[in-house]
Amino acid sequence: MSVETLRDIESGTPPTADELGSLGESLGVSPEAVRLLAGEFPEDIHEGLLADPEGALSALRQEIGGRQSGDDGNGATTVGRLGRSPENDTAVSHTPVYETDSGTLYDVDCRDLLPELESESFDLVFADPPFNLDKDYGEGSDDDRPEEAYLSWCTEWIDEITRLLKPGGSFFLYNLPKWNTHLAHYVSRRLTLRDWIAVDMKFGLPIPNRLYPSHYSLLYFVRGDSPDTFDPDRLPIDTCPHCGGEQNDYGGYKSEMNPNGVNLTSVWDDIPPVRHDKHLNRDANQLSIKLLHRVIGMATEEGDRILDPFGGAGTTYAAAELMDREWIGTELHDCSPIVSRLEDGRDDDRQRVQEIERNLNALFTESALERRVEYRQEFGFNFEDYDLSASTVPIQQSLDSY
Ligand SMILES: C[S@@+](CC[C@H](N)C(=O)[O-])C[C@H]1O[C@@H](n2cnc3c(N)ncnc32)[C@H](O)[C@@H]1O
Repeated sequence: MSVETLRDIESGTPPTADELGSLGESLGVSPEAVRLLAGEFPEDIHEGLLADPEGALSALRQEIGGRQSGDDGNGATTVGRLGRSPENDTAVSHTPVYETDSGTLYDVDCRDLLPELESESFDLVFADPPFNLDKDYGEGSDDDRPEEAYLSWCTEWIDEITRLLKPGGSFFLYNLPKWNTHLAHYVSRRLTLRDWIAVDMKFGLPIPNRLYPSHYSLLYFVRGDSPDTFDPDRLPIDTCPHCGGEQNDYGGYKSEMNPNGVNLTSVWDDIPPVRHDKHLNRDANQLSIKLLHRVIGMATEEGDRILDPFGGAGTTYAAAELMDREWIGTELHDCSPIVSRLEDGRDDDRQRVQEIERNLNALFTESALERRVEYRQEFGFNFEDYDLSASTVPIQQSLDSY
């Protein structure tokens, strides 16, 4: 292991499973023991202790006593809960809580499900885990861990995700910048970091003596050098919501602009928060289907397989269904909002997706074009400057209607 890697570990970047293995080898202990030596407390051991503190202590005392009286303790190798390797692929032992023609939903801890899934079998993994903000997701939820413990919990399922991705597959990790700075470093040792996408969103209250936090981080990785599929949407020109006038002049080269819209950038400022009751499928966090539509459209093709280990309100699954992708998901707490969304909320999601698709890959959105037509005389907008051949609204028809 390189000195640089050791320094990274020392300065707080959690070691990968391989690195834990080689550290353990040189110290003559298991990877779990390395974690203990480093001051971490693996969560499964913690849970075992909480379930039966007296029993666990007495087992520990007996073990220590046994060793002191000559038992060398060999053979008691700890097996990590996520110790699956590509060689021991087997079928999933859990029973799905819900299935569709293209998707399967489980109601188990993703750390129990992921090790049972086949290696290199997903084209896209999207993960929006709890952010360790002390949210209550349901009985037994623990969203207030010490920093080290939270990062170490993340690396448990991230290690599995990297195994599950096909070569050329994509991994998107949504989290607070505070966590993604560490996780970007961790994942980059195994996958290639393509982009840090800033999803513009005001969250929480301003913090005294700090900048007002206003973006989430969406990390985009690929397994190997380049993605199998990279087909980002093109977006309409940014326009004034009142008159439809351009916010930028794009260098003045209007006629040279791609009629399908402008290139997607790594700052996404057009993703609305899901606050409206009509679209909200449960009380806690829910991402906009626009975000998932963009990610899925960019990184997969019809029929591809998607995994989302943190179901929430099922936004990924709803988008996958409507975009003809296959999916697998799990939600540790209440799965009923996902099931009712997929059963009864499909029309609402379909409408949203159709609206999103109507306003993509053209220079102006429907409403911007309508406004420009309305204000064309007042502000001197003309339509010959642009190539509007990709417009979803026939321009002549709009002009005639005024
Ligand atoms: C931030 S929310 C995901 C929201 C989702 N992206 C959406 O748009 O609806 C995270 C979810 O992960 C679930 N969760 C937490 N720990 C889990 C685990 N170990 N395995 C599976 N799900 C878990 C929580 O109950 C919560 O619903």
